[in-house]
Amino acid sequence: MIPAGPILVPGPVEVVMDDGTVVRSDRFMVALCACRRSRRYPFCDTSHRRRVRTRPTEGAGDGGSVGE
Ligand code: FES
Repeated sequence: MIPAGPILVPGPVEVVMDDGTVVRSDRFMVALCACRRSRRYPFCDTSHRRRVRTRPTEGAGDGGSVGE
């Protein structure tokens, strides 16, 4: 699994959504969205690649002032 990325499962798969609807994919390998940013949820549309947070930048208001 890619951190903050999809969960890859062998297809075909059927996913039961919260409202009870069933979504099916017949692909050989199915990428299920784990970040909930996908416009094709429950399937990954690579939206997880955008705005992935890394470490905060230095001096970005971390409250680490000294000498006050
Ligand atoms: S995991 Fe790829 S869009 Fe959510």
